[in-house]
Amino acid sequence: MNFFVRSFSRSVIIVLMTIKALTANAQSTVIPIETKNNAIVLRVGDDKRLSMVYFGGKLANNTEYAAVPKVTKQDRYDNVYNSAYTTSGTHNLLEPAIEVTHADGNKSLELQYVDHSITKINEDVSLLSIRLKDSLYNFEVTLNYQTYYNENVTEQWSVITHHEKKDVVLNKYASANLYIQADSYWLNHYHGEWAQEMRTEEEQLNHGIKTLDSKLGSRADIFQPPVFMVSLNKPAGEDEGLVLYGNLEWSGNFRIDLEVDPTNNLRLIAGMNNYAANYTLKAGVAFETPKFVYTLSDKGKGEASRNLQSWARKYKVLDGQGPRLTLLNNWESTYFDFNNDKLSALLKDTKDLGVDLFLLDDGWFGNKYPRNGDHAGLGDWEVNKAKLPLGIPFLTKTAKQNGVKFGIWVEPEMVNPKSELYEKHPDWVVKQPNRPEFYMRNQLVLDLSNPTVQNFVFGVVDKLFAENPELAYIKWDCNALMYNAYSAYQKNQGNFYTDYVRGLYSVLDRLRAKYPKVPMMLCSGGGGRVDYGALKYFTEFWPSDNTEPIERVFIQWEYSYFYPALTSSNHVTDWGKQPIKFRTDVAMMGKLGFDIVVSKLKPEELAYCQGALKTYKEFSEAIWHGDQYRLQDPKTNDVASIMYVDSTKNNAIMFNYLVNQRYQAGSHLPIRMKGLQEDKMYEVSEVNMMPGQNSSIATATYSGKFLMTVGLNPDARSGRNSVLIAVRGK
Ligand code: DGJ
Repeated sequence: MNFFVRSFSRSVIIVLMTIKALTANAQSTVIPIETKNNAIVLRVGDDKRLSMVYFGGKLANNTEYAAVPKVTKQDRYDNVYNSAYTTSGTHNLLEPAIEVTHADGNKSLELQYVDHSITKINEDVSLLSIRLKDSLYNFEVTLNYQTYYNENVTEQWSVITHHEKKDVVLNKYASANLYIQADSYWLNHYHGEWAQEMRTEEEQLNHGIKTLDSKLGSRADIFQPPVFMVSLNKPAGEDEGLVLYGNLEWSGNFRIDLEVDPTNNLRLIAGMNNYAANYTLKAGVAFETPKFVYTLSDKGKGEASRNLQSWARKYKVLDGQGPRLTLLNNWESTYFDFNNDKLSALLKDTKDLGVDLFLLDDGWFGNKYPRNGDHAGLGDWEVNKAKLPLGIPFLTKTAKQNGVKFGIWVEPEMVNPKSELYEKHPDWVVKQPNRPEFYMRNQLVLDLSNPTVQNFVFGVVDKLFAENPELAYIKWDCNALMYNAYSAYQKNQGNFYTDYVRGLYSVLDRLRAKYPKVPMMLCSGGGGRVDYGALKYFTEFWPSDNTEPIERVFIQWEYSYFYPALTSSNHVTDWGKQPIKFRTDVAMMGKLGFDIVVSKLKPEELAYCQGALKTYKEFSEAIWHGDQYRLQDPKTNDVASIMYVDSTKNNAIMFNYLVNQRYQAGSHLPIRMKGLQEDKMYEVSEVNMMPGQNSSIATATYSGKFLMTVGLNPDARSGRNSVLIAVRGK
């Protein structure tokens, strides 16, 4: 019997089908997993091993998938190298996706196909679940592939269960194991540090294993985020080349192994990091791994990123299809030094500036140990009576009087040793017993693997909402990584790293059940925690504390490959020497906010900002929900250029920045636009100029074809180092 499963040919909304175990000629059992342009093909061998025999562009005739292994001769190693979920302890000798210690201490595992089912969730989304089982041990793994047909996106994860007589220890437990065939593999990955997030590097993968990972625990991404690209056959460009994007949806330690195997194929294994994390699993309990999301495009990095962005807006990010609030934050204008009078003045500034919301940052809490600096008070979430004798209600009331909303900063996962919380509950803190404490920013992490601590953290935010129902926004910070990782609550320390993140998600689940809509910013001392596991609960993230605008052009550019613009909180601050126009123009490329002293702006600067907010409003649909096209890369050009086109192709905006300060650097040639409608006429004009500034660009009307073939020179150069061009359909 030959099973070809065409997941998307059905008209019923939910189809659940289970295909029973294999027949004698099982070698021909092939399971294609298709999206609009791509296919993954899995095959069950006559030994019942499940292998991945194809990953690439969809074939016109899907009966041909069965021929792929014949021509590529992948099965010469008994379907081990190309395993769909590589086991260990038997005859696989390459990097495994799963490694276990059974209840009897044995470490071998052989997974054999049992059956599979397909659930068609809606016209776009289907879930394929494949059950695999060991023939000797009562140990089972279900591999899940959730496809988003139109977006060409797949999410993959596994669920591990056993019914052995005692606990089993999971030594490795990947989410996904892919097998890719190409002439060569070019890995684009990222590294960073505080204020230096998303620095990119590209290298050709050679034989052996390249590992991208984090062992930092809570602020896991600060040195390396769980995002990467692999170009196949040659380095992909913005609009050409075959490229795979991968991203692990997990807010903790991760590990992504890329292994070019002895047969020159790429084995990709992604999941939580098993470093110091041998997980003890009880019988009958399902261990679900995080999702690994990936997309493949044969039209380069641009299309791959638009696929991922549109998937994220539609299916992942909280309120991804909704609007965003502009705001004024007080962090860099006051730091910890504020009181009712100062904040009242800032609330009036919020109104004068014309943004939607005022965001009160760190420093509003702590009494025995007042939060007047970063060395004390964290954990004591009572309003500081000296600074704010009338409490938060006074501030929400004053905000209301000014016609603006009010939001607040919290960092509820953390504690300063100098706090009442630490004094009362030292056992709630992540630290080694009998060893000296080691701090990052004078603080420690609370043990969220402990349900009592989860209740406390939930309670902190819940109480804020209960006492201040008008609270319209939360900035959720997380500044310390985990040194001395040890939980006084855990019996098995190997469970700690995983259960910490699960504890965090459990708190966020409870908060979202009660407060489903309130916008929340995911912040981690900059971009220390940016991932789709968390973005399910958050409307936006804070990419970096580095808001110097030229730096920011680079940082936002790199994030944009993996995350949609409306999730990127960009604040105008006083970092660097660029004028207010440059800083604001850059911040407008995502979710716009300000963190400046508005009252110190010159009248023309304030007028410019107010005008910029109007421009932002006009083009917010294109920026928040439209398609993003990278036109000129800041890494290889004097001028960085990027544009956003709304879904009707009627309204677009082009952002251009001079990023090279050398003599005569500038845009000397027209820059070709993208994403417009060829036969439509567009009026192009420069917008967002300082009051009194004249444009060197004549307002004119061109066809979409002209703008995409010939282009337009924004005339970005010294003295015009930031140029915004409105492209309005006629
Ligand atoms: C780190 C954040 O990135 C900043 O924006 C600010 O909120 C501080 N923490 C407050 O302590």
